[in-house]
Amino acid sequence: KWKMEHFLKQQIESIRERVGDAKVLCGLSGGVDSSVVAAMLYEAIGDQLIPVFVDNGLLRKGEREQVEEVFKINLKAPLITVDAVDNFLGKLAGVSDPEQKRKIIGHTFIEEFEKEAKKHDGIKFLAQGTLYPDVIESISVNGPSEVIKSHHNVGGLPDWMDFELIEPLRELFKDEVRKIGFELGLPEGMINRHPFPGPGLAIRIMGDVNVPDLDLLREADVILLDELKASGYYAKTWQAFAVLLNVKSVGVMGDNRTYDNTVCVRVVEAVDGMTATFAHLPHDLLERISRRIINEVDGINRVVYDISSKPPATIEWE
Ligand code: XMP
Repeated sequence: KWKMEHFLKQQIESIRERVGDAKVLCGLSGGVDSSVVAAMLYEAIGDQLIPVFVDNGLLRKGEREQVEEVFKINLKAPLITVDAVDNFLGKLAGVSDPEQKRKIIGHTFIEEFEKEAKKHDGIKFLAQGTLYPDVIESISVNGPSEVIKSHHNVGGLPDWMDFELIEPLRELFKDEVRKIGFELGLPEGMINRHPFPGPGLAIRIMGDVNVPDLDLLREADVILLDELKASGYYAKTWQAFAVLLNVKSVGVMGDNRTYDNTVCVRVVEAVDGMTATFAHLPHDLLERISRRIINEVDGINRVVYDISSKPPATIEWE
């Protein structure tokens, strides 16, 4: 505890010194990492902080509204929401390669931040909630072809950009960030929120990303979260989400043949996300999740559970 208190104090001091009277644009996702960064920045520089939430069209059901609501209550600086749905989905149209999707999303975030920054005077810095594991997993082991996954916010800024990066969490793991969030007085729901990747649902749809598939996935995903929260398993697990496999199979509904999509349910336990095991959920809970998704989501007729651990699998499918 003392270590985190000390870290926090020291970071706030050094941010204040580095920023001077410039402004800082901080990209927010609603997750714990960027929320902690924003709260630290507010402590350090107050109104010189410009918090920006980019709606990339790849969010969960109701997420934009939730993020806006939570920030209104907890963060003193006024949140700017950028509607970039068309830009992201337009650039992703027809792209199915996982790394290509990740790179497009990373670049488009930068583009949107830059557009927003131009609307304000005196922005010199861009702040983001990059963690140590994000950095590690984006570093190539044996040259560029060996990158595990390009995290959307790792790799620095393009040369032509005049911003400097502020990444106060770059040496921390998630559990340490949660402790800092607690020190900063952020609400429990924000601190204990499951991680959600910047590329969002785009890396949970196998193949190209389009609006009908996003909507389908959102419906299945919200049922999964609902059941996990109701049963207490949300709090006991690291991460839980649905993946749209784009694999069709034959089913029977009433007297009719169906030929519909498959959803994979992924729930994992982990300490820092670098390794993970699939959660040993009770079978009756799995049954309820499966039954509800198939009955309530038109277009899904099969649900499978991912029983792979990391390594050798990864948490996300792409
Ligand atoms: P993997 O799939 O590599 O994921 O086992 C490890 C953890 O990192 C999250 N993740 C990301 N988070 N931007 C993020 O902010 C990204 O590009 C990204 N890719 C993966 C993933 O959800 C898991 O918690």
